[in-house]
Amino acid sequence: MAGLTKKIIILNSVDSTNNYAMGLVKKGEAADGQAVFAMEQTIGRGRQGRHWISEPGANLQISYIISMEWASMRDQFFLSMAVSLSVAELIMHCSKSEVFVKWPNDVIINDKKAAGILIENVIHGSLWQWAVIGIGLNVNQKKFGNIKATSLAIETQKEFDVFEVARQLQTILHQNIRDMKKGLNSKLMKSYNQMLYKRNQKVKLKVGNRVFETVVIGVTEDGRLKTQDVFEQEWDLDTASIRY
Ligand code: BTN
Repeated sequence: MAGLTKKIIILNSVDSTNNYAMGLVKKGEAADGQAVFAMEQTIGRGRQGRHWISEPGANLQISYIISMEWASMRDQFFLSMAVSLSVAELIMHCSKSEVFVKWPNDVIINDKKAAGILIENVIHGSLWQWAVIGIGLNVNQKKFGNIKATSLAIETQKEFDVFEVARQLQTILHQNIRDMKKGLNSKLMKSYNQMLYKRNQKVKLKVGNRVFETVVIGVTEDGRLKTQDVFEQEWDLDTASIRY
């Protein structure tokens, strides 16, 4: 198995690092493991068609390209878990803060969002060829207006070198991908459920236009959220969201 490259392309400004990384994949120019980092994104994209807005130069806006031909399409949520756990691990290394993963993959410190993840896949028939793993991690930004967000700098009162943070995250992510290749998925799932935001606690869950109270129990292998109130229920990805 060829190693994962540590190459990082650094851009001053780009529409979206995910778009740039996907362009490399489509042109056949992508190397397994490589990253695309941007100081500024003009159209940063979030999950479910949302925008990702970030202070230029202050934060991590990065996409890692991973060849996935070795994996089964059924394992897509394992990759999502591996990525959120990698970001959580990095944050714990930098800040000693208590970190949680809010289903499906927001990374949370002190009830505020520190990082968001957007994974886009290239699939041919039943073959999962590539994953472009976009990560927005708030590093040195101090003000977020009325958005419930935080950063490493707010949590630690320190400034970080964003390039160093990008390299550290690449190392951690590559290690977790190697663990996935070794079939350590049950370890991943255990760690994910241990870090799950509000696990065994009452939350407000939004499903369509309805918001109701329920208790978060855990997440299934294919990424469904398990909750318990009058009924035990499972929620498909993107059909429900936990309110802060
Ligand atoms: C979310 O929380 O909705 C996901 C946000 C993902 C943002 C990152 S920043 C780097 C990469 N490029 C993008 O356009 N989006 C992701």
